[in-house]
Amino acid sequence: MAAADPYSACDLGPELDVAIARAAERIAGSGHVVAMTGAGLSVESGISPFRGKGGLWTRYGEPPMDGFQRFLADPRRAWQERLSPREPWLVGLVETLARARPNAGHRALAGLERAGHCACLITQNIDDLHRQAGQRALLEIHGNHRLLRCIECVARFEPEELPVDPDDLPPRCPRCGGVVKGDTVNFGEPIPPDVLRRCYEQVEAADCMIVAGTSASVYPAAEFPYHVLQAGGAVIEVNPEPTDLTEVATLALAGPGGAVLERLLGRVVALSPGRAAS
Ligand code: APR
Repeated sequence: MAAADPYSACDLGPELDVAIARAAERIAGSGHVVAMTGAGLSVESGISPFRGKGGLWTRYGEPPMDGFQRFLADPRRAWQERLSPREPWLVGLVETLARARPNAGHRALAGLERAGHCACLITQNIDDLHRQAGQRALLEIHGNHRLLRCIECVARFEPEELPVDPDDLPPRCPRCGGVVKGDTVNFGEPIPPDVLRRCYEQVEAADCMIVAGTSASVYPAAEFPYHVLQAGGAVIEVNPEPTDLTEVATLALAGPGGAVLERLLGRVVALSPGRAAS
């Protein structure tokens, strides 16, 4: 039986409800649905967005764009900062990430996958919440704050697989001897080629893209919805605020990610009986 819709009482308004019903038809009728998410999806898990009201960069200013070059120039120092961060925004972010748990939006997208209506999810978020929500086909284009990655062979490691000795920094890759850094993609760092290639494969295969909780302003992710539109596919945006994408989106669902995606899941499952989201 479909998961109860905890937001059924949540009044999203008749207009949005109609738009959600239309979006559900589009998703149920599509062959290859890809979802793309941003920081806005984790706002209901207590993590600030980057831009707009209450955004990290709005409050603290954008960090320097040469984070990766600084890492390469002195990886030992970069690791000392990672092990004991001093910048207030970073200290706050590390604590928030440790406490955060998936919300209804994350769970609904995992439910769409289990119901066979989401072939892959591309996230710009480093917060690990899609993994915790059980999303399987997941591409973390900006990395995952919990993981470590070799900058040579791109091998990734869980923290317990590669214990870090603070007296012997930077840690080295057990496979190729390369320098290991946090998996989070720094400003100025190229997106790891394996993830980027798979993102483009999914974008090219998609005939429908759900874009939730992103200002769609950072590349290369920001270009993905336009690829889908140019190929004749549909783009369904979920965002309480308008973005650059809103005008060109096939459907814009102007509401909070948790309530809208939960309602959307319920409608899609109702349209495709027999593929219930457990
Ligand atoms: N539900 C859905 N969307 C929301 C919610 C919510 N509850 N609250 C806010 N939003 C929307 C905002 O309206 C905004 O459009 O989420 C968006 C967040 O935008 P950004 O803060 O710009 O985050 P994002 O798009 O993920 O940024 C992209 O920029 O700084 C880099 O690497 C960082 O991955 C990040 C990238």
